[in-house]
Amino acid sequence: MATTSSIHEDVNPQGKASHPLAVYGIAAVAALGGLLFGYDTGVISGASLFLRKDFALTSFTEELAVSSLLIGTIIGAVVGGRMSDAIGRKKTLIIMAIIFAVGAILTALMPNLPLFIACRILVGFAVGVASFVSPMYIAEMAPPKLRGGLVTFNQLAVTIGIAVSYWIDLALANANLGWRPMFAVAAIPGLGLLVGMLFLSESPRWLAGKDRWDEADKALNYLSPADKKQELKSIHEAVTSGSPPTIRSFFRAGLSMALVVGVGLALFQQFVGINTVIYYAPTIFGYAGFKSATGAILATSVVGVVNVIGTIIAIVLLDRVGRRPLLLVGSVGMAVALVAMGAIFQAGASNAGTLILISLLVYIVSFAIGMGPVFWLLSSELFPTRLRGTGGSISTVANWGGNLLISITFLSLIDVLGKPFTFWLYAILAIASFVFCWFLVPETNGRNLENIESYWKNGRKWEGTDAKHE
Ligand code: BGC
Repeated sequence: MATTSSIHEDVNPQGKASHPLAVYGIAAVAALGGLLFGYDTGVISGASLFLRKDFALTSFTEELAVSSLLIGTIIGAVVGGRMSDAIGRKKTLIIMAIIFAVGAILTALMPNLPLFIACRILVGFAVGVASFVSPMYIAEMAPPKLRGGLVTFNQLAVTIGIAVSYWIDLALANANLGWRPMFAVAAIPGLGLLVGMLFLSESPRWLAGKDRWDEADKALNYLSPADKKQELKSIHEAVTSGSPPTIRSFFRAGLSMALVVGVGLALFQQFVGINTVIYYAPTIFGYAGFKSATGAILATSVVGVVNVIGTIIAIVLLDRVGRRPLLLVGSVGMAVALVAMGAIFQAGASNAGTLILISLLVYIVSFAIGMGPVFWLLSSELFPTRLRGTGGSISTVANWGGNLLISITFLSLIDVLGKPFTFWLYAILAIASFVFCWFLVPETNGRNLENIESYWKNGRKWEGTDAKHE
């Protein structure tokens, strides 16, 4: 058995190089969970036009049809942490893949609204679980040097899923095929996730946490033989120190701040209003004077593509310039764009359509380089190994809860406050997000996960330095 003694052995006798290709492959498979998250959230925007007709929806039942997925995601986020800690990241993702695939087909077949809603809650459950277990699994498999970029593969997949859902909605709508195939298509990546995960190993950190050191050793030997000795040593220190994890563990000195940062980022990621754009972009373009529905949907599709491009830029930059600069620059960019949008609506400019499109593109790029990827990355990095499932779960619940709150209040806010003040309200929240990140979010770039754990335990100081964020 590879216990403490073998942890200190020379573990790279053959001088093997690490397997970057294997690690990229693993990230790509796990990121199919992200693709499904994006697809299943984005698909409803185009599908709701058809559902409205087929199920004779009122505004209330339409809101229900749209938000049922979000209800499922919150349940999934609550359950997913315990599930992935109990049965492992791999089995959890396999079960979710089955739910994604079966749920997609069932949704497409449903004859009435209550059954449709039940299926969306079921699929939402898988989205909620996968939204944090996929990035967490990638973070636990990745060598520290590649972790930021690899985990962000998942956010890239989310944005690709959203963009693809817009384009598929558009194509199927033009072909007059209705809403059913829009949902059924998600079975394909669902099956991809299932087959892919069957071939991947369990996370070495989860295995070590269950005292299965032999398997953890084997997994690391495959993933990053060059760093294995150091990784095993720090995993060992992390999983054997301290008392067994409970929710109260967070409230002991130091760790509560990890939770504050995780939950704070989760809420700010939603409170800056991203999903008013993702779910309601055609409506916003409509306000700005886009005459035809096709024009508005086409502009929305452009927003989807720019979201993907911004996320690619983030992948390139995250492990070079770090997480904090991107969060800070992104928050400023969003605030500026939101102030501009409010001003454009306030002025009632005649060419508002183009100006709103430009502002929305600035906004989406700013989100895509900062809050979008960095929240999910940090929620997989911030928490100590033994509490990662629980911590990730709590911040994911906050994220989906915030998402639901913003999505169901947007149209009413427009009614009550008017367009300018609604966007200015989100601008104030983007400024608050800047202040929060400036003071509380540490720079985790290049640190291994156990190093991050000691940062919290040392009262927010990196080992061997006095600097707080650095
Ligand atoms: C957010 C989603 C959002 C998506 C947009 C994700 O990071 O959690 O709520 O729809 O980014 O790209």
